[in-house]
Amino acid sequence: MNFDQSFSRENTCAVKFDARKAVFGREDVIPLWVADTDFAAPEVVTEALVSRARHPAYGYTLFPDSLYEAMIDWFRDHHQWTIRRDWIRMAPGVVPSLHAAAMAFASEGEGVIIQPPVYPPFFSSIRKAGRRVVENPLVERDGGYQMDLEHLTDCAADPSVKVLFLCSPHNPVGRVWSTAELEAVLEIARAHDVVVISDEIHADLVYPDRPGHRMLATLSRPDDPLLTTVAPSKTFNIPGMGLSAVVSERQDLLRQLNDVFDSLHMVQCNPFSITAFEAGYRYGADWVAAMMDYVRGNRDFVLGFVEQQLPEIRVTDPEGTYLLWLDCRALGLDDAELKRFMVEQAGVGMNPGISFGSQGSGFMRLNLGSPLAVIQQAMAQIEVAVAARR
Ligand SMILES: Cc1ncc(COP(=O)(O)O)c(C=O)c1O
Repeated sequence: MNFDQSFSRENTCAVKFDARKAVFGREDVIPLWVADTDFAAPEVVTEALVSRARHPAYGYTLFPDSLYEAMIDWFRDHHQWTIRRDWIRMAPGVVPSLHAAAMAFASEGEGVIIQPPVYPPFFSSIRKAGRRVVENPLVERDGGYQMDLEHLTDCAADPSVKVLFLCSPHNPVGRVWSTAELEAVLEIARAHDVVVISDEIHADLVYPDRPGHRMLATLSRPDDPLLTTVAPSKTFNIPGMGLSAVVSERQDLLRQLNDVFDSLHMVQCNPFSITAFEAGYRYGADWVAAMMDYVRGNRDFVLGFVEQQLPEIRVTDPEGTYLLWLDCRALGLDDAELKRFMVEQAGVGMNPGISFGSQGSGFMRLNLGSPLAVIQQAMAQIEVAVAARR
């Protein structure tokens, strides 16, 4: 578990590295964009995959009981959440589940609430289903973000609004929602019969010195209109495996979601995805704890660096995720100029905040999941570029 160790990901078909030319127009930017990390996956996962690969039959595959057991044990031990086997439906990725939920629980033209700035597929998964995006923007307060619960109530009260996509913890602003906020969301959903899809893919990525994550389902009643999406992909840095799970006590909701997946004949099971999924949840606890401790060091470095060297940039201090939300509005650049500036002057490839909704205008999202030396180099390059503008 040496997170300082750097190894080349170039020419491995890694989007973060090998799509740089296509996305940034240059192959040499330091890539701090796509939300995976440059850390080697846990050795226990690699060993399980190598062992599986040695068996030379890669045929049609089913989900073994042991996979469900590993997942159930993980959420019991790490999130005090008791799940039953029949509450779980495996799914290819979390984004397909968002899309399937928009299809299943809203009709054409009906509304799905999201809380921007938010992970871009929250928008596209609704729009591509022909459903309507209803924005309940987060509010900026004291350098951080909060939910606008009054406005959320108004959105949910509209009878043509059927679904809420909750991002918990929140990408990109790094909020780990408080119990009070989560209880308020459940209450609103209950009162207006809005189905909540709680995307908790970042649930395991909280900082040791910040409040822990609370699974929304641990606050819910059995008949609440709630489905939770989870995955080991961010937790153990295996998102390329493309396997996640949807959990709900409401069998009627699970069935409706299932119908959408079944109608597409979507196969999500393969010998490698199930192997990595199970090995991560079964043996990966020490690795993720060490990884978040390391990322905490990266976070502190960037927070300190920005405070001392970059008065033009403000950072939202994150409670979870390995993502940082940089407020670059004081640079006085429009969104196209800001992206060009970071790429051409600083040589750093980040996600433009505008892709997370209009509320992200003037921001950039930085991925802290790289060796500290890489993060230090990127920040030094940004500092030189910003200083040249002073
Ligand atoms: C909030 C959130 N949901 C979903 C995903 C992607 O999930 P998947 O790759 O399983 O579709 C991401 C990846 O960055 C994310 O941040």
